[in-house]
Amino acid sequence: MSPARPQLLGRLAVQTSERGRTGLLRHTRTIEHAEGPSLETGGRRLLGFCANDYLGLAQHPQLIAAFKRVADDEGVGATAAALVCGQRAEHSALEEALAEWTGRERALLFSSGYQANLGVLQALLGPDDLCVQDKLNHACLLDGARLAGATLKRYPHGEVTAAARQLASAPGAAALLATDGVFSMDGDRAPLRELAALCQREGATLMVDDAHGLGVLGAAGAGSVAAAGLGTREVPVLMATLGKALGGHGAFVAGSAALIDGLTQFARTYVYTTAMPPALAAATLAAVRLARAEDWRREKLAALIARFRTGVAQLGLALPASDTPIQPLLLGSAGAALAAARHLEEAGMLVSAIRPPTVPPGKARLRITLSAVHEDEHIDRLLDALATLPRAEAANAAPL
Ligand SMILES: Cc1ncc(COP(=O)(O)O)c(C=O)c1O
Repeated sequence: MSPARPQLLGRLAVQTSERGRTGLLRHTRTIEHAEGPSLETGGRRLLGFCANDYLGLAQHPQLIAAFKRVADDEGVGATAAALVCGQRAEHSALEEALAEWTGRERALLFSSGYQANLGVLQALLGPDDLCVQDKLNHACLLDGARLAGATLKRYPHGEVTAAARQLASAPGAAALLATDGVFSMDGDRAPLRELAALCQREGATLMVDDAHGLGVLGAAGAGSVAAAGLGTREVPVLMATLGKALGGHGAFVAGSAALIDGLTQFARTYVYTTAMPPALAAATLAAVRLARAEDWRREKLAALIARFRTGVAQLGLALPASDTPIQPLLLGSAGAALAAARHLEEAGMLVSAIRPPTVPPGKARLRITLSAVHEDEHIDRLLDALATLPRAEAANAAPL
């Protein structure tokens, strides 16, 4: 007879059905075709407000041409990790462009943002160290601190004095303070100047994950750190992703040559993984050039954000403070968020209902994201649909 161990797959199935019972089950939808902001799914064409393609670059002809050119020349895969088979000229050119854009000495590519954060935290931190993080940081920053075995302390969202207390509680420990630059589910910005001053006082290292700020904020889109007027001295570790405003996939870390040399040796998610496809690096380089040069994309986005926020206020609904393309409409319960998403879908729009555990219990929401591919008429269609939200949902989103 086999021992009476708990059965792992059985336990997973119970957890999955529990999610279903509490309205928290997630589904992956198949998109049959994507074109600009339009998404075809289940034979219907929906107007999407769920992508992170903030500058509208994912389908830009220059990215597609660069991708095709390198795929024609060099094929699809990178074929090995960068340290094993070397990185291609396209990877090096992209790293140089990212370092220059963000005003850092060097940059290092990772295959995804998740891997970049795991790799950085695991390379920098050990079990005797302290990692202080905003409670609303992205999951991969939290996972990185856990992977490193560091003591993780999470301060209430945006509360610099709480972060100060946490740093002061372990004055002898090496410490990293890590924060999103723009919070992925809320769209607000971290108090970077105050956090930088705190880290200087406390001798802690500041790391900013600018996944949602790069391309969108700051002069020439250099990101939230540049927008806050901070350089390498104040923010020695800058990470950002390439799959959002840049319309591609992957991520990078930028900083001093010493940081990049160290990560090249010790960041296991860099060392032990296949390099990003070179064609993707070439396409992303085209995206960096466009993102830097085309201020009109940021200007258009800002006008769309203003139009949307004014329209929502006129409907008597409340939006938290956010000047970024992430505009969350808080609805409270998971059921209310799902019902609102369903209502919008019936009206021809695709907006994600974000529920726990991605957001705290009671903070389920519609995560509405805007892009430079949207037009005024798209915003107006969304506002019209929000105006007809069933009364219970609208009441949850009304100002208290
Ligand atoms: C703040 C933040 N960091 C990191 C990531 C992970 O990046 P990637 O999707 O490239 O793994 C995301 C989202 O995906 C994010 O929102």
